[in-house]
Amino acid sequence: MDLSGKTAIVTGGASGIGLAVAKALHARGARIAIADLNATAASDAGKALGGVGEAVNVGDEAALVRFINKVERTLGPVDVYISNAGLGVTDGPGWGAGDAPNAAWNLCWQVNVMGSVFAARHLARKIAARQGHFVITASAAGLLAQIGDAPYSATKAAAVSFAECLAITHGDEGLNVHCLCPEGVRTPLVEGIEGGAQGLGGYLEAEEVAQILLKAMEDRRFLVMTHENTPGYVATKGQDRDRWVGGMRKLRRMLIEKLGRPM
Ligand SMILES: NC(=O)c1ccc[n+]([C@@H]2O[C@H](COP(=O)([O-])OP(=O)(O)OC[C@H]3O[C@@H](n4cnc5c(N)ncnc54)[C@H](O)[C@@H]3O)[C@@H](O)[C@H]2O)c1
Repeated sequence: MDLSGKTAIVTGGASGIGLAVAKALHARGARIAIADLNATAASDAGKALGGVGEAVNVGDEAALVRFINKVERTLGPVDVYISNAGLGVTDGPGWGAGDAPNAAWNLCWQVNVMGSVFAARHLARKIAARQGHFVITASAAGLLAQIGDAPYSATKAAAVSFAECLAITHGDEGLNVHCLCPEGVRTPLVEGIEGGAQGLGGYLEAEEVAQILLKAMEDRRFLVMTHENTPGYVATKGQDRDRWVGGMRKLRRMLIEKLGRPM
């Protein structure tokens, strides 16, 4: 895929998957703009890739729009938007599915869902007119579930649904939408929780995920699953939801026994 002269915004682009995707897009000629909570890392990554990087909270619509406007003025119209900033919280310390505090639920909702909604509100039609790409990094947790993190699971499921809405609504206008759904990827996000369900299919490197995503963008594929077993799990869930819930309960029991702690 030749992206020479195209402008790409990558949120959460100062680390992990976002940084790897920014590097891969840059290697194909794109001008890179990085938005990340981490000001120094965003600026360093932007400069290293010959573009720009700034502190932006994607859950703050006004701040995100200011950044988008600035990128349009300085680098040109946006052709590729990678809505990748995201975070998880866990259900601890109570470990009930509704136990995470409201602040944690709200944070996941603002970043994992509204971050993409705000960007789409301001850019979906413009990118569609340029036959560009809008990527939402959801997660396999959005297709299945992340045991022990209900806010992450529920908001990533909403992120998958919003990606579907974007593709259905704006696909005919020319928008190429991609929903990236990895299981475990070796990034700072999973440090300390490596033994969790997300690691059962093995960990990929962020660079591998970036290459899989770019191939899917080239092929104009909507759903981008990166791990071998994800499609099978998704099919099982689609065929028999009760059997799938039973399987997940069993998996939870196994993980609690293996890790020797609640989840
Ligand atoms: N690592 C995995 O196993 C995995 C698996 C599936 C999906 N994901 C998703 O991939 C995306 C990237 O995660 P990662 O693994 O590279 O983690 P990471 O922690 O390395 O990177 C996430 C980046 O997002 C930034 N960020 C967080 N909140 C933000 C906000 N409000 N505004 C702007 N930037 C913000 C962080 O500063 C960080 O630089 C996330 O959406 C995550 O949910 C990760």
